[in-house]
Amino acid sequence: MVKVDLSGCATFFGSSGPDYGAASAAHRVLSEKTGPGAEFTGWLCLPREIRRNELKAVLSAANKIRGRSKALVVVGIGGSYLGARGAIELLCTRQRPGSPRVYFAGNGLSADYLNDIIADIGDDDFDVNVISKSGTTLEPALSFRVFRELLRKKYGANARKHIFATTDANRGVLHDMAVSEGWERFIVPDDVGGRYSVLSAVGLLPMAVAGIDISVVLDAAAEAFDAFDLRSPENPAWQYAAARQLLYSKGYGIELLACYEPSFRFMAEWWKQLYGESEGKNGIGIFPASLEYTADLHSMGQYIQDGPRSMFETVVSFEKSLTEHAVPFAMGDPDKLNYLAGRQFDSVCATAREAVKAAHVAGGVPNIGVSFERRDEAGFAQLVCFFELACAISGYMSGVNPFNQPGVEAYKKNMFKMLGKPE
Ligand code: PA5
Repeated sequence: MVKVDLSGCATFFGSSGPDYGAASAAHRVLSEKTGPGAEFTGWLCLPREIRRNELKAVLSAANKIRGRSKALVVVGIGGSYLGARGAIELLCTRQRPGSPRVYFAGNGLSADYLNDIIADIGDDDFDVNVISKSGTTLEPALSFRVFRELLRKKYGANARKHIFATTDANRGVLHDMAVSEGWERFIVPDDVGGRYSVLSAVGLLPMAVAGIDISVVLDAAAEAFDAFDLRSPENPAWQYAAARQLLYSKGYGIELLACYEPSFRFMAEWWKQLYGESEGKNGIGIFPASLEYTADLHSMGQYIQDGPRSMFETVVSFEKSLTEHAVPFAMGDPDKLNYLAGRQFDSVCATAREAVKAAHVAGGVPNIGVSFERRDEAGFAQLVCFFELACAISGYMSGVNPFNQPGVEAYKKNMFKMLGKPE
């Protein structure tokens, strides 16, 4: 299902090796809900919970949108949009047949970005899925105001039928507006933080609108969480969590998540939030960064090979690509590439991956390999479950509460004060 390869770390580990005893203890604390933040561990049960409670409603809303609109605007920031965007970019590299275009708004304060989306939608029919657990986050709230007004102008009294609000079940400004306006509502569960919410309606509704088979995602996720419950050093989540904690203890404070698939870019953004927000606190934590290979080898390769020796690399790969393409033969070999003629791009890429690993390891960059079977619905589910579980275990191993984010409030306080928000 998921394979973790630590061969590129061996020389950096020293004699001790990863601390699987600590990984085991952290896993126990997580599953027995005895650690800090235990009230936010509902994500472990999400796949089955959602199947039981909300899947039908999510699918029916998605079908409604797919049947009538050319575009869906997903309004949200951080954990309220990165998972859906990651999934859609990973799995729908081309717009799927019969699927509306999906736009992501409310993840910043750029007027140009907002206006480009509005211009792109033009006169097309569209729906809005506003996602905010708190309902008070400024960026999505402002964009939502803009799109609400556009819907009102376009659909008049029927505008309310084009709004789907994913928010807290019982409280908050967005919840209250949804109730009073009669918008269809979906739940961000109380016991699930934003960055762990992709397998709830937060991620599932936009994914289903984009044409992703969310039933397959949920089934594969339930299976994956069962498989990762293994209490042994064979557990890939333990291997990854324990390896990164050992590397951190040896001075490798930056993790570069790299993938050779350009479609992985927003999954890497999702991963950065997951790990950064979960582990960066109390003055400690691995800094999560991401790279797209091979493109970034031509811009960041020098730094990785030769810069400060404080980075390790986690390389995500998929065992089989979805399509194939062979290098064509060229008469006369004008570009001197016929030595590769007939070879699949996949195979050239696999060789490049090995070559990069050897060069970086020799240059002092430890390498962790994480491979998934396929870049499909099941592969996406396995990836999410693997990284979520490993993150919680790694966070507990480092002694932090992996489920809070007190530091995020500091800039908000300043910003609201400077903007003159009434008390
Ligand atoms: O993980 C988190 O909690 C954050 O990234 C939130 O998802 C983000 O700040 C958006 O918050 P909200 O959903 O309340 O608008």
